[in-house]
Amino acid sequence: MKGQDKLKQIIPIMGMLIFIVFAVIGMINESVHVAELITRLILVSTILTLVAYIFNTYYEPELSSNYVHIMYWTFILIGFIPSIFLLSINAYILPILLTTALITTMIDSKLGLMTHLVVSFLLLMVISLPLDIYMMYVVAGLFVNYVIPYVKKRQQIVYVALSTTLLMMLLVIIGHLMQVGNLVGFNYANMFLAGLNGMLVIVLAQGSEPMWETIFNITSQAQLIELGSANQPLMKRLLVEAPGTYHHSMMVANLAEKAAIDIQANYQLARVGAMYHDIGKIEEPKYFSENQNGENIHDDLSPDASAHYIIRHIEKGVSLAKEYKLPKNIIDIIKEHHGDSVVAYFYNKAVSHSDGFDIDVEKFKYAGPKPQTKEAAIVMLADCVDAAAKGFNMEERDMDQIVRLIDQVILTVVTNHQLHASPLRFDELPIIANAFLQVYNGLYHERVKYDRELIEQ
Ligand SMILES: [Fe+2]
Ligand SMILES: [Fe+2]
Repeated sequence: MKGQDKLKQIIPIMGMLIFIVFAVIGMINESVHVAELITRLILVSTILTLVAYIFNTYYEPELSSNYVHIMYWTFILIGFIPSIFLLSINAYILPILLTTALITTMIDSKLGLMTHLVVSFLLLMVISLPLDIYMMYVVAGLFVNYVIPYVKKRQQIVYVALSTTLLMMLLVIIGHLMQVGNLVGFNYANMFLAGLNGMLVIVLAQGSEPMWETIFNITSQAQLIELGSANQPLMKRLLVEAPGTYHHSMMVANLAEKAAIDIQANYQLARVGAMYHDIGKIEEPKYFSENQNGENIHDDLSPDASAHYIIRHIEKGVSLAKEYKLPKNIIDIIKEHHGDSVVAYFYNKAVSHSDGFDIDVEKFKYAGPKPQTKEAAIVMLADCVDAAAKGFNMEERDMDQIVRLIDQVILTVVTNHQLHASPLRFDELPIIANAFLQVYNGLYHERVKYDRELIEQ
């Protein structure tokens, strides 16, 4: 962990240094006077350091993995460096929006928005952009940042690309009208170049998604949406081969998604991670109570053998996930969803059968690691709540009992030190508990409605 923490600090420093080197090159290209160059450089470096510090603190969940962090700085430099050199050719072809589009597509839209505003401002300090062109990039960037999250299907990219093109062209016209007051001397070539720039940015940002996913070993929202479909081969297998686990996973997915939305974590990741968290049960479903029909295979096994088969679903899940090429952050959730907790039922059974002999608790422990991200921690909590709710009498619909059950489960997970390694904060636990409660509330509400409809028929 310590090496990783160091790397976390080195990445922004490296990113900033490269940024500053190219800022200097840009200013030299523009023949900026030495005294002015130094002043601008001090200003750019100060703003960069402050912003890097603020972003590292406030966007920790989004920049949690070093891969994502490197990718983030790569996206900043991808827009910034070519802009330095292309300015001397034509100010309308700068790929400034590429940074915004890539961060919004691949990492997070809020981070994309903040980065867009900061990088555009820094660029203005480094190179001399006419104000109308600068405003064109700022406004078009805001638009790109706003619409990209709504792209759910591939065809929608065409609409976004076309609307960005039209907006860029319109902004060139407005810029000219603001300065001249009429279209006399209007440069149509620049208008088309700006439009082409807008289109290329969207096409490049969306088209290069699989490439970035491979290079940085990360999962984009689009890939998560695809993995969250019930048509995925592993989901189909889970439904057929371990139907009880399939229904449990769907319930955990609903709980985890709601909790992640409420604490502003990555809800797609939490949902999809929850859907796949128990896929390791596919090959030996009968060892797990949710797939048993009366007959219990554990009746003929010793408690430590039972625990061995139960614990094995993590290892099996990870290898199945690798075989089906699931992304790393989903594999991490599979690996971490039980942390290093004890299989309490079989440990207690072993203790009660021990006749006073010591029982090695290590044999009953999952191998870990503990959840490392907010999403993995949420999946762990949702999993435990759903497992506990199984023994609960659904027909009574006693919400007070559910409240107590959720609180008890969260308390147990916390006191077993399972959340220590995750960035989840204590003040987020009541929000998660409330989110779980709302899901159960909705569930019962629907049941009541359903019964009534039956009666009315
Ligand atoms: Fe599990
Ligand atoms: Fe589970």
